[in-house]
Amino acid sequence: MPGPAPGPASGPASGSERPSDRRGAVRTGVVWAALQPLVTTAPLDVVDIGGGTGGLAVRIAALGHRVTVIDPSPDALAALDRRARDAGVAVAGEQGDLASLADRTASADLVLCHGVLEVAGDPAQALAVLAGSLRAGGALSLLVAQRHAAVIARAMAGHFGQALALLDSTAPTGRAGVRFTAAELEELVAGAGLDAIALQGVRVFADLVPGSLLDLEPGATAALLELEHAVATRPEYRPLAAQLHLLARRRGR
Ligand SMILES: C[S@@+](CC[C@H](N)C(=O)[O-])C[C@H]1O[C@@H](n2cnc3c(N)ncnc32)[C@H](O)[C@@H]1O
Repeated sequence: MPGPAPGPASGPASGSERPSDRRGAVRTGVVWAALQPLVTTAPLDVVDIGGGTGGLAVRIAALGHRVTVIDPSPDALAALDRRARDAGVAVAGEQGDLASLADRTASADLVLCHGVLEVAGDPAQALAVLAGSLRAGGALSLLVAQRHAAVIARAMAGHFGQALALLDSTAPTGRAGVRFTAAELEELVAGAGLDAIALQGVRVFADLVPGSLLDLEPGATAALLELEHAVATRPEYRPLAAQLHLLARRRGR
């Protein structure tokens, strides 16, 4: 499966950010580069399920699309509201969860589901609801935590027993929930009747790099971002990625 074209280093990467912000910038930059070709023609009906405080939603609304964020957290929705007002764009915020999407059959041109499938309960059922909310030809952007990277992180921290237990585990672990492999994700998407069109790794090196290096080395964050763009679509580096980003389409039009 082809990956999205590697994009230019984008997103914030100034020297005044904390390491967690820098990792956020890497995620946003790589995901945005893949999403951009899908949001060039406005206006689209876009739903960001579990969209939280609306970082991506506001960015997409600024391109002229009709964007709705559905999230169970009233605090996140209040922050979304402030963010949208500050940016001078309209984003509809609705309190709800993945199940609420079932009321929106075949109504969206693009659905974002980033960092939500991990805590959704039954992933196959969630995928069916996500697929059902798309119009024919509509696209789904799915961002999930990858299991291989979590195994590597535990092993590198000396937690060998935890790494071993996680190897083949499809059970949720703590607040992080379920982690997926690329094969599992592709199977879920195909099972929901969607065609996967691109798959990339996100945060391939970002979580392995010591935060102090990004703090002290001038230009390190921008260089890391450039490297992340370059490796995102290379399958040989995919198992290292903390997150997998898959784009899929509903058949027809
Ligand atoms: C890790 S955050 C991701 C936020 C945003 N999508 C992003 O990528 O930055 C997970 C979000 O999913 C929301 N959430 C949790 N359970 C959910 C569910 N069952 N359905 C929809 N959203 C949910 C949380 O309130 C939170 O805003």
